Amino acid sequence: MDDKQKIRKEILKKTKAYKEELRLRKSLLIKNKLFKTKEFKEAENILFYLAFKGEVETRKMIEDSLKIGKTVLVPVCDMKRKTIVPSKISNLFKEELCIGSYGIERPRKIRSFSAKDIDLVIVPAVAFDKYNNRLGRGKGYYDRFLKKLSSRVKKIGLAFKFQIVDRLPVNLLDQPVDRVITA
Ligand SMILES: Nc1ncnc2c1ncn2[C@@H]1O[C@H](COP(=O)(O)OP(=O)(O)OP(=O)(O)O)[C@@H](O)[C@H]1O
Ligand SMILES: [Mg+2]
Repeated sequence: MDDKQKIRKEILKKTKAYKEELRLRKSLLIKNKLFKTKEFKEAENILFYLAFKGEVETRKMIEDSLKIGKTVLVPVCDMKRKTIVPSKISNLFKEELCIGSYGIERPRKIRSFSAKDIDLVIVPAVAFDKYNNRLGRGKGYYDRFLKKLSSRVKKIGLAFKFQIVDRLPVNLLDQPVDRVITA
């Protein structure tokens, strides 16, 4: 097993063991921190993610962003290109969502949104390190997507404290974020 896989396995084990009540409580703390950032306040079009298997929960962030008039996008997996397609959503009602590729929730109807109009990307991860490097689930979907964005676009990672490691192994294709918000 290579170093990335080893760290992935170790952190995913902790993610699985993390109590749901803690996950939700810490996610709200992370939301409050996010909403205070300059990047969030200045962003009009934000690509969030729909939390999968113990990731930092984004529902309340999405609902409140919509309430204050932000445009919210969420990713849909493009399995052919192994990347992400941003799709616009206007609420999180059950009827609007379905289970997509890899078992990840997605909008039932895709409303594509041009990547060049995105101001801020909220990035999920298995782990981040102290240098804002990111370790994902190992398929490179976010790496491919983030790489093609203009350098103007801000990238903020969300993670619980146990997901932060000293140093991740990185290669040239791995895309870092601008900052990581933790709780
Ligand atoms: N821009 C790219 N073009 C082609 N292949 C890429 C690109 N970015 C990443 N890959 C490939 O994707 C595979 C998975 O990469 P990696 O292990 O870094 O995934 P990850 O960052 O953990 O996953 P993800 O981004 O999906 O959360 C690797 O084989 C990597 O070389
Ligand atoms: Mg990577």
